[in-house]
Amino acid sequence: MLDFAIRVAQDAGRLLRDRVGTTIDIGHKGDINIVTDVDLASERLIREAIASHYPRHQVLGEEGGLDESSSDYRWVVDPLDGTTNFAHGFPMFAVSIALEYKGETIIGVVYDPMRDELFAAEKGAGAALNHRPIHVSATAELSRSLLSTGFPYDIRTASLNNLDHWKNFAMSAQALRRIGSAALDLCYVASGRFDGFWELNLGAWDSAAGALIVAEAGGRVTNFSGGPFSKYKPETLASNGLIHAQMMDVLALARPSRS
Ligand code: IPD
Ligand code: CA
Ligand code: CA
Repeated sequence: MLDFAIRVAQDAGRLLRDRVGTTIDIGHKGDINIVTDVDLASERLIREAIASHYPRHQVLGEEGGLDESSSDYRWVVDPLDGTTNFAHGFPMFAVSIALEYKGETIIGVVYDPMRDELFAAEKGAGAALNHRPIHVSATAELSRSLLSTGFPYDIRTASLNNLDHWKNFAMSAQALRRIGSAALDLCYVASGRFDGFWELNLGAWDSAAGALIVAEAGGRVTNFSGGPFSKYKPETLASNGLIHAQMMDVLALARPSRS
């Protein structure tokens, strides 16, 4: 199933890459939340592949939602993570595919077609970038850490819009980045490029594969207060483990968020 997930992520990634520079149809799910024909085509490709190989498995995809079948296996799919980047020709986006068995993520694959980078993990078997093992960074001080985050699409209206946390981390970390793809943020923590990542209100499709990849690369993934992470709950805090408590302290400075 890992090989299948890799093949499908690469096929969908090629579809995304082939559409760079072509005319894109853009629709609006909200004021600043867009969906393109390419998101839909990528999800169609992935759903068709799953339906033909594993017809009994359930699929949760960002664009098509949860299908009606019931199964112990659920594929959790973001066909294009980084849609805003993609629509602007900013080359930072990926396909994210995870497989859950009885509620637990057992496989995670994130493919970045612009760099031909394939991040993959299987529960208990470690994480890899282009088939070579990866590990989180060894940075032990928040003040020496490069962190990443993202902002929810309801940033203009939500009271929990992450700007308070952004400000607090800007004052305590070495530097912050907002790359616009939560799946890649998590893979960059797993591969040591980022030391930590936090975000509010991600969808399960954004975090499912990346969270397993971080954990399998030796990192830690929890909610903002150090409790168990759930891809179906609003808080994601991922780090190399060493700076986790320091990140929790900074998150605690701002108004407590829902967990
Ligand atoms: C978004 C990206 C972004 C994150 C948003 C996500 P999309 O996914 O991962 O980095 O900040 O919360 O919704 O819409 O490009 O698939
Ligand atoms: Ca996404
Ligand atoms: Ca998406």
